[in-house]
Amino acid sequence: MMITKIYANTEVDQAAAEIKLGELVAFPTETVYGLGADATNEQAVKRVYLAKGRPSDNPLIVTVSSPEMAAEYIEDFGSYGQKLINDFWPGPLTLVFKIKPGSLSSAVTGGLETAAFRMPENEVTRKMIELAGVPIVGPSANSSGKPSPTTAQHVFHDMEGKIAGILDDGPTKVGVESTIVDLSIDSPAILRPGGVTLNELEDTLGVKVLSDQHKVGAKETPKAPGMKYKHYAPAAQVLIVADKDWPQALEWAANQKEKVAMMALSTTLENSQIPGNVVTYDMGADLTSATHRLFDGLRHFDNDEPVNWILACSFKEEGLGAAYMNRLKKAAGDQFFKAKID
Ligand code: TXA
Ligand code: MG
Repeated sequence: MMITKIYANTEVDQAAAEIKLGELVAFPTETVYGLGADATNEQAVKRVYLAKGRPSDNPLIVTVSSPEMAAEYIEDFGSYGQKLINDFWPGPLTLVFKIKPGSLSSAVTGGLETAAFRMPENEVTRKMIELAGVPIVGPSANSSGKPSPTTAQHVFHDMEGKIAGILDDGPTKVGVESTIVDLSIDSPAILRPGGVTLNELEDTLGVKVLSDQHKVGAKETPKAPGMKYKHYAPAAQVLIVADKDWPQALEWAANQKEKVAMMALSTTLENSQIPGNVVTYDMGADLTSATHRLFDGLRHFDNDEPVNWILACSFKEEGLGAAYMNRLKKAAGDQFFKAKID
């Protein structure tokens, strides 16, 4: 088994040297930690799929340190691309472009004529890419089927012995993966909601952005291939709880012989009668903190304090709430507490 080193954010040159050697190094971003490898080294890219246990037809994001680095692989950003890059790079926005034929290996693109590009906010990571001199592939650094990692410790848990190192720059900021926008088709479309919201995108572009995933799934428009795989499945069954349903949900929980977890806002925890068999995870003050903590909470009840059920708070599906609910619904297999007991 290989030893997985933890690099401090001052040791970025060592992390870059490993990338140049074709090794795998996990890296911080403002969304979640990614699993990095030289995107121009096919062998290294193939080992990313192995380390994650990821199906090899699910393409990888190409992570760059500047728009110029992305431009080497793209015929033309187009006016939409240019505007979005101006307003949101670096940041939690991934853009899918048609690429110059053959400019990236099919190990990266899964054989598509498009590729997804992202320039993260994290300066240490951009420095690592600059020093390596090549773009890096950057899927989330979790084992396939686990929540994306938001700390170096989460990465270590999943990847110890499988990768050369982890560049540690503390917990990530947003907590869920980037928004993906498809610009390889006529009208821009959101393939995955994330830190950049629908409203922000429409403000910048001045046109309607498709966000209904059914429309996005229409014949000629490729969905993010990753969407067909099961994601973020904790061992426990997750049930989504609407604000007003907490009293009823806790009554239900009290009658369970099994262990139940409650992931809720601080104010909900303070104002609730919490039964003895219920353990809690504090999601903080608001939607922003809840999004930041969601994956950590799910991992906590997988690894540190196993339970049979997780009751988790819901938000309106707008703004950042669209991203939060998208991830929570996947974790819950779409199960709402109310629908289950009614
Ligand atoms: O925030 C993020 O985006 C994180 C950090 C580490 O940068 N990365 C991330 O990567 O979430 P990953 O691989 O876990 O998710 C990327 C998604 C997958 O669902 C994949 O199918 C989709 O992007 N994707 C990649 N290339 C694509 C393409 N050419 N067209 C459509 N979807 C694509
Ligand atoms: Mg992922």
